[in-house]
Amino acid sequence: MPVTRSLSVSPALPIGLFDSGIGGLTVLRAISHRLPQEKLLYLGDTARLPYGTKSRDTIIRYTLKAAQKLVDEGIKMLVIACNTATSAALPTLREHFFPLPVLGVVEPGAQAAVAATRNRCIAVIATEATITDGAYQQAITRLCPQATVLGRACSLFVPMAEEGWIDGPLAEGAAHRYLDDIFTPAVTAPRPDTLVLGCTHFPLFKKVLQRVIGPQVHIVDSAETTALAVDGELQRLNLLRPADAAEEPAPRFMTTDNQQRFVRTASLFLGRTLHHGEVELVNL
Ligand code: DGL
Repeated sequence: MPVTRSLSVSPALPIGLFDSGIGGLTVLRAISHRLPQEKLLYLGDTARLPYGTKSRDTIIRYTLKAAQKLVDEGIKMLVIACNTATSAALPTLREHFFPLPVLGVVEPGAQAAVAATRNRCIAVIATEATITDGAYQQAITRLCPQATVLGRACSLFVPMAEEGWIDGPLAEGAAHRYLDDIFTPAVTAPRPDTLVLGCTHFPLFKKVLQRVIGPQVHIVDSAETTALAVDGELQRLNLLRPADAAEEPAPRFMTTDNQQRFVRTASLFLGRTLHHGEVELVNL
């Protein structure tokens, strides 16, 4: 018999966002641009990062714990701002927290890629877990069965982003090593016209990547399309915080380890300086 619990949350509650680290801040930024009146509560599980090299069972276990923390704080929607956690744990989270709306980043990324491609040849870069899971490959071919999807695990970009090494010879060398054989193939092989950044840490490398793969390749970052999906879902559920609410609230940040480091690197993702007092240390 289907479970029919009704959702009773107030539009005044925050949207909860989760990532294994600070990559999900690219999604937070896009949501706060699109929906400035919304309260945002962010949790980065920096103590357990990286998730992308762990097994599916471990990723599910970690993600459930982190999501529970956000739910306990009181949220009206959960956004899994991490491709790795979305790929492994989205169905489990939806079931576990039903009827709370739970959104991931893979489907919006796949939609944006299918909308952008002209030759239906799409490359996806992500963590090892996301690529092995095949979540993007499946989401894209569900939307466009004729698509060719080339996946490439680029695990090294995660610690490099957390370190702030997003440009210069190291970043460029890594990008060449990961992508040259996809984007400079023999003339008979299809060359992707679209590259999906299938990890929320990767938008920081956009400039380098564009240089390495060439200006004609369209780069898709799922942050914008996820913000659009969040907006649509809040409207559908009648959960938008009124735009005339008095103030534009500042987001709240929680991390599971090393606030100083979070503050330092988060500023890169947010495009503004974050202060120590804005970040709370939590234990899961
Ligand atoms: N930001 C995460 C993602 O989007 C990956 C980082 C990690 O490996 O923990 O996949």
